[in-house]
Order: sequence, then structure tokens, then C-alpha cells
Amino acid sequence: MLFDTHVHLNADQYEEDIEEVIERAREAGVTKMVVVGFDEKTIPKAMNLVEKYDFLYAAVGWHPVDAIDMEDRHIEWLRELASHPKVVAIGETGLDYHWDKSPKDVQKKVFRRQIQLAKEVKLPIIIHDRDAHQDIVDILKEENASEVGGIMHCFGGSIEIAQQCLNMNFYISFGGPVTFKNAKKPKEVAKEIPLERLLIETDAPFLAPHPYRGKRNEPAYVKLVAEKLAEIKEISYEELAHYTTRNAFKLFGIS
Ligand code: NI
Repeated sequence: MLFDTHVHLNADQYEEDIEEVIERAREAGVTKMVVVGFDEKTIPKAMNLVEKYDFLYAAVGWHPVDAIDMEDRHIEWLRELASHPKVVAIGETGLDYHWDKSPKDVQKKVFRRQIQLAKEVKLPIIIHDRDAHQDIVDILKEENASEVGGIMHCFGGSIEIAQQCLNMNFYISFGGPVTFKNAKKPKEVAKEIPLERLLIETDAPFLAPHPYRGKRNEPAYVKLVAEKLAEIKEISYEELAHYTTRNAFKLFGIS
């Protein structure tokens, strides 16, 4: 039993074969998934999917790359959606310093607004962090994000950054990159994360794990992430699946 905590089944890449993609995930033992919507196009698609499939849940937020496009009405929209019974998190939100479409100060403002919203609606936050580790941690601290906690999605930071996130009630989630042959750092970091705070994800259609690196990712491949993490943690696959699924249920408040 596996829980993919971050998947974009609402992406155009699945337009043709969404049914088969979901079926393969189920066959691989993926019993629950959180579909992440982060803009005007992907949020309604995520909501349609969670209304159709009982084992899918949604996270709704505004992506940092597009922070410059966010208007007040979007925050109102997210606030309304947050009361939907299948919306289990706010995000993905955060900071992305790799792309420069949105200036840093705009990204920070939009990030803070979503942390404040998450606290208001009492939902955990899903964090997208690309090349912005320290700024993310500083803002989470300043905004008291520990009140709701959340997920450091597809974590790529250091052990020190991970420790600060753990101290603020965040879970650390690993995806495809932890399986890459040359990925030394994520493996070292994963080894140090307590089992009680570890999550798995695919971020599909992006970041496909080894041996599918560079191809379209899909939620069935979360199994490869789980297998690699079990190896890193030196525990059985069953135990790794048990902990990560239980952690996700607890964090998202799913009974
Ligand atoms: Ni994502």
C-alpha cells in the first residue's frame, strides 16, 4: 500500500491515457494520491479528478514561477476550495529561483499569503523549493508555519535545512531524484530523516525515477522510490510503505 503525495494527473501529458495511468498505479499498490493544482488551468482539472475517483485527493495553491500572475481573486478562490472535503493541503507554493519569470519579492509575497491562508483554513502546506532553501526556511519561521506544518516536496536541500524543516512540523518527501545513480546528497539526507516524518511522491509527469529518467513519469513509479528508500533506510519495503502511508494519512487528516 503506497501513497503518492504529489502527482500532477491534471497535466496535459495524461490527456490521452489518464485511465490507464491510474490503473497501472493501482496495480503497483498505490492506494491514494494527492493531485496538485497550481494555477487557473490545473486547479479545476484537479477538482474534477478528485470528484470522480474516491482514492484521489487535491492540493490547491499558486506556483512560485507564476507568482506574478496571482491576483486577489485567486486567493479568494483558494479559500473557497479549501473547504471542499477532498482538498487536503495548500500548495504547491514556495520559491523558485531557477526561473526568473516572477521577481523574488513578488514570489515571497505570494508565498507568505498562502502560508497565512493555510493557517486560516488549518491545512498543511506543500512547499516547492528550487534553489531557495534558506529563504524558504526563514519565511516559514517568520510566518509561524509550524502551526500547520506540511511537506517539503521533492526535497533537495541539505541535512541542516531538513532539520530546520523537521523542527517546524514539516515532513520530508522524496521523489525520483533519490533513485538517480549520481544522486549522493538526497540519499545522505534521506538516511537521516526519521521514518515518522518521511513521505514518498513522484511529481509525475516530471522527474521520473531510474530507469525511466528523462521519460514521462507516472504514479506507478512511486514504487521505485519506495524501494530505493527502503534500501537507503535498511528496512523492508513493507515497512517503508507502512510508515510513509501512515504519515500521509496523518498529515492530510484522512481516516
Ligand atoms: Ni509538483
